Formats: sequence, C-alpha cells, structure tokens
Amino acid sequence: MPPTSASGTSPRETVKPLNPKKTITLTAPAKINLFLEVLGKRPDGYHELETVMQEIDLADTLRLEVTDRDQDIELTCTEPDIPCDQDNLVWKAARIFQKETGIKSGVRVHLIKRIPVAAGLGGGSSDAATVLKGLNTLCNTDLSETRLMDMAARLGSDVPFFVKGGTALCKGRGEIVTPLEVKHRFSYILLYPNIRVSTAKVYNNLKIDLTREKKDVNFIVKALLSDSADSLNISLFNRLEEVALELYPELRRFKGLLESYLSDGVLLSGSGSAIYGHCENQREANNIKEALGKRGIKKAFVVSN
Ligand code: C5P
Repeated sequence: MPPTSASGTSPRETVKPLNPKKTITLTAPAKINLFLEVLGKRPDGYHELETVMQEIDLADTLRLEVTDRDQDIELTCTEPDIPCDQDNLVWKAARIFQKETGIKSGVRVHLIKRIPVAAGLGGGSSDAATVLKGLNTLCNTDLSETRLMDMAARLGSDVPFFVKGGTALCKGRGEIVTPLEVKHRFSYILLYPNIRVSTAKVYNNLKIDLTREKKDVNFIVKALLSDSADSLNISLFNRLEEVALELYPELRRFKGLLESYLSDGVLLSGSGSAIYGHCENQREANNIKEALGKRGIKKAFVVSN
C-alpha cells in the first residue's frame, strides 16, 4: 500500500495538477500600414479610417500554458522595459478570454519580444490576438472567428486585423477587416529609429480638414492584387505621417536616410516611429540594411509579406 497524506490521498495524487499541463508556442507577426487615410473624427473620440495593413515576417514568439491556478495570469517577457502587469495587452487578452468563456484555468505566457514597441508595427496588438487564438486552441473552446474578432475589438483597434492576418483593408476604427488575396511577395527594408511614439498624441494633433480631398484606397488595393510594384510605390500613403514628423522631428532624418537609398516608396508605418521602404527585391533590401549598419543603424530589418 502506498503511504497516504493527511487528506487520505497518496503523495503522488497530491502533487498531480488538476489539469494536465498544456502548452503551445506561436508566432505573432508585425504589420506595416501601406495606406492610411483618416475620414473624420467619430463621436466616440476615435477616428474613422481606411487603412491597408500587411502582416510581415518580423514576429514575436509567445509560449502559452494553461495552468490549474484558478483564473490566475502570469506574464514574463524577454524585454525588461515592458510591463508584465494588467496594463499589458497580453494580460488583458488572457483575462477577456477567461471572462468570456468562463474557463477556470490559469494562463501563463512567456513573450519573446522582437517587434520594436511604440513603433506603429502593431506588436502588442498582434501578441493579444495570438493569445486569443492560442487559448481558443489550447482550451478547446471552439469560439468562432466572429466571437474572437469581437473580443479583439474590445482590446484595441488593430487587434481584429491580427485575428485574420495576411493583408487586409480595414475600416471603421480599424476593426472592420476585409482580407485581400495578395500573391506577390513584396520586400521591404524596415528601420526602427529608437523613438517611442504615442499613437494617441499623433491622432490628437491631427487637423481634419473636411474640404481636403481624400486619398482613394482603391489604387493601392488594385496595385496589391495585380502584383504591380511600380503602382504600389505611387499609391503608398499615410495621413498620419506629416503630424508624426512634426511632433517627432528626429524622424525626418531617418526618413531622409532611407530616401537616400530609395527614390520612392518610403513611408512611416501607422503613427510611427518605424519607417519602411519598398525594395525591388530582397537583395536590394539586404544591401540597404548592410549600408545602414555601416552608418551605425542596428535596428533595420529585411521583411516581406
Ligand atoms: O484602439 P487603440 O487603443 O489601439 O488606440 C490607441 C489610441 O489611438 C486611441 O486612444 C486613440 O487616441 C487613437 N485612435 C484613434 N482612432 C483610431 C484608432 C486609434 O483616434 N481609429
């Protein structure tokens, strides 16, 4: 007979977790905005957008684990600057998932951060979407994409895009996502200027001129669907760029630097601070990265969709 503990169970049974330990490791890709027009300010304080977002192959990695610690959330991260508390979108995503599904399990997340933060690359939003999708798989909750998109929209304007991924035209606050079937592989050089931009500050400083002609999103959609690199360059647009460059003047130097290698197709992503340049191919992007490295710029990435 095995020895029994005070509760009458054998020691082996006492240490056994309530749920078997379940883990999953997933990547959470960044995005760039190929087009962003602001149509107006909404009564809820947000801005009505038309934006084309493209997932790129620069990604964070998340290791998710379901634990038997009743609705507990534990978050660790490789980046010491990133708060691992309730303000982190990863934490919020885990909590919203627990609340919506009523699951009793705890969640442990380890985040390997590679996407620069406050850079207009959607890193935090992508991490949050990955938590929702990953927990849906781990917990066998079988939530529909519509349910996940709804939870994602409550976490942030860019999160629903990352539930779908790929390339998409996003409207509303950003949460109305129409996927675009892009077959061509576009290459970009992406530069992070080591500046953290506040998205709210950029939007708050945007002056909306209702008489101004709006940029038409259909040109870029056509360019992407027809694999036309030349028409892509002339239809890249970001309404937030001028405001961000005014607020963070150092960004101009970085934009100018990329423009010294690429005569067109250089743009700020989202509210910044990352700036990308569309390259003819991966070789050109690699050459620019090498040249930037020689000038002391270490945070440059060769990326594609
Ligand atoms: O939705 P999210 O929390 O990511 O947005 C961050 C900030 O960006 C908002 O607080 C708001 O100031 C601004 N924003 C906006 N209109 C959007 C998206 C974001 O004004 N469509």
